[in-house]
Amino acid sequence: MSVRRLAPKEVQPASFAFTDENLAFAKAQIAKYPEGRQASAVIAILWRAQEQNEGWVSEAAIRVVADMLGMPYIRVLEVATFYTMFQLQPVGKKAHVQVCGTTPCRLRGAEELIEVCKHRIHHDPFHLSKDADFSWEEVECLGACVNAPMVQIWKDTYEDLTPESFGKVLDGFATGNLPTPGPQNGRQFSAPAGGPTTLKEKT
Ligand code: FES
Repeated sequence: MSVRRLAPKEVQPASFAFTDENLAFAKAQIAKYPEGRQASAVIAILWRAQEQNEGWVSEAAIRVVADMLGMPYIRVLEVATFYTMFQLQPVGKKAHVQVCGTTPCRLRGAEELIEVCKHRIHHDPFHLSKDADFSWEEVECLGACVNAPMVQIWKDTYEDLTPESFGKVLDGFATGNLPTPGPQNGRQFSAPAGGPTTLKEKT
């Protein structure tokens, strides 16, 4: 895994403040834990901060979350830099694509999906496309191996992909006509591809 550091000062916003809706969400998370244990809500609140901040966690957001939870800044920084679900630099405004590159997805065509990313977004991961709308990275198993190969964009997964159907998913994000998450080949969830193979005959 590469070194994970905060984005350089030039791209860091000066401040961060939760919207009223997200502040209410944060308070609800904190209320789930006993008094003195509010730090347990750090990941949920940091994730919401990331969603509000166009898909990445700024230093200002880390400080706000730490103050909210009564945690030293360094503790929240540790969480943000440890978990790769947190992006530490600006990502594509319309989509940050996480392509699973672990063995089952590799065997089912992840390499071709990565080639699509290289051609349509940027040759290198964690770089913005020319219009700053897209970025991509390769990640480890996202737990949807039965629908390999797959990608995650924001909080949703798009599965059973081919280069063509993946291209359509990207088109959807580009035009604002968002694709339906899940299998992109008509398969129902993780039901057998091609239909049932057992228990087909009634006796
Ligand atoms: S190997 Fe890709 S989701 Fe598990």
